[in-house]
Amino acid sequence: MKILGINETTHDAAVCLIEDGRILFAGHAERYSKEKNDWYTNDELIADALTYGKPDKIAYYESEWLKKLRIARHGGFGGGKPYYKSSPLLKGIPVKSFKHHYSHAAAGYYTSGMTDALIVVLDAIGEFDTGSVWIGEGDKIKPLKKLKYPLSFGLFYSAFTDLIGLKANEEEYIMMGMAAYGDPQRYWKKVNNYFPWVQKQKYNFHQGITDWDETIDEQARFDIAAAVQAVYEQRLWDIMCSYKVETGKQNLVFMGGCALNSKANTMLWKIFKNVWIMPNPGDAGSALGAAAALYGKHLDWQGPYLGHDLGGEYPVDKIIDALIKDKIAPVASGKAEYGPRALGNRSILADPRDPNIKDRVNLIKKRELFRPFAPVVLEEYASEWFDMRYTSPYMQYTPECLKPDLIPSVVHADGTSRVQTVNKADHPGLYEVLTRWNKLTGIPVLLNTSLNIKGQPIINDHQDLLEWQTYYDRSIIS
Ligand SMILES: [Fe+2]
Repeated sequence: MKILGINETTHDAAVCLIEDGRILFAGHAERYSKEKNDWYTNDELIADALTYGKPDKIAYYESEWLKKLRIARHGGFGGGKPYYKSSPLLKGIPVKSFKHHYSHAAAGYYTSGMTDALIVVLDAIGEFDTGSVWIGEGDKIKPLKKLKYPLSFGLFYSAFTDLIGLKANEEEYIMMGMAAYGDPQRYWKKVNNYFPWVQKQKYNFHQGITDWDETIDEQARFDIAAAVQAVYEQRLWDIMCSYKVETGKQNLVFMGGCALNSKANTMLWKIFKNVWIMPNPGDAGSALGAAAALYGKHLDWQGPYLGHDLGGEYPVDKIIDALIKDKIAPVASGKAEYGPRALGNRSILADPRDPNIKDRVNLIKKRELFRPFAPVVLEEYASEWFDMRYTSPYMQYTPECLKPDLIPSVVHADGTSRVQTVNKADHPGLYEVLTRWNKLTGIPVLLNTSLNIKGQPIINDHQDLLEWQTYYDRSIIS
């Protein structure tokens, strides 16, 4: 049986097609409509999914009427009609909806390979829940407890994102990066008062921070970011430790938009023996989650390369040539990544040894020059270069870099790096590139960033490749 999972009327619409536990396709709407953080699916995306066959059932990622009720009572985002009701491509296919947090939990647990785990979901809000805790045993996901509105890790973080002049619900990752440049002490006490010990948080962040009484100059933006990150990490530490003690579980599945905070995620390895964060833990991943919830069993998770297929062999020789000649290799090949991180198939790869590369790549991408870049490293060398005893195939953790002088362009201001580890099974082509790069330079590391311009979706299809080449003299390797 084929099931099409749909997520929309939120900040990153997506669909996912599965068949008897196999994931056939998963893609983001924005990469087809070319509208960043598109709220709605579109015919191009759905048609791409349907090339793998027509679904027998549709699974929707949240309860539409409960969400509308919450918006009517408390305000907030969303409320548009789900697209599947009007799409002629999906006419007549029966639809089943799942609760927002259950879709998150199912996306995480059913891709984890774990059969005994604590599942924690933290986001801004889904229907009325802002967090949820579940126990996964065998193929069953059982509810344990919920965090209720207005207590919300995600809304706390988003409200301060808005306060410092960034876009809430979209640019939290920029604030996380800014935190490394700020002094967390300057505003810690004040920020901490907004989000005291978890159960005592009463401030309604849905309207933003409405009573901040100090001028926010440029340095204050960074200092507030640092304080928010510090408070967030402390609260996350507190609840994760308490849930572990309460359940006795050694394995954690962490989902929801908060699981995109790679800096905070890193400490989870100090609490749990195993941690699984699906590479698309936010709402877009709930397209897969809803499909998995309807299937009701573990999926055959083979990795995040599930989107639009450009075809072709991974262009290893061309990438190495470009790295040697120009130190920068934009590459688009095979299936697009499902999730916010480019992990090799829609990436700009670059020489991490050159300290000027960071500025060069930021200028190509039209990003702020302070923005850091991430490294991709051969898995077998990861612990020599970074303080980690785990793998990080989806860039979800930021361990300390142990050799920052050798790869300065992929080390953040606080000495950490958001690492992607690669082994041969994960991505044979990228593994080959890194192996050859290591033989040439003695460095098993490359810079890896998404192939896009700031504010635009990651490049998806052949048309995008052609358009990129009209703007830049540097062709994309494909
Ligand atoms: Fe969510």
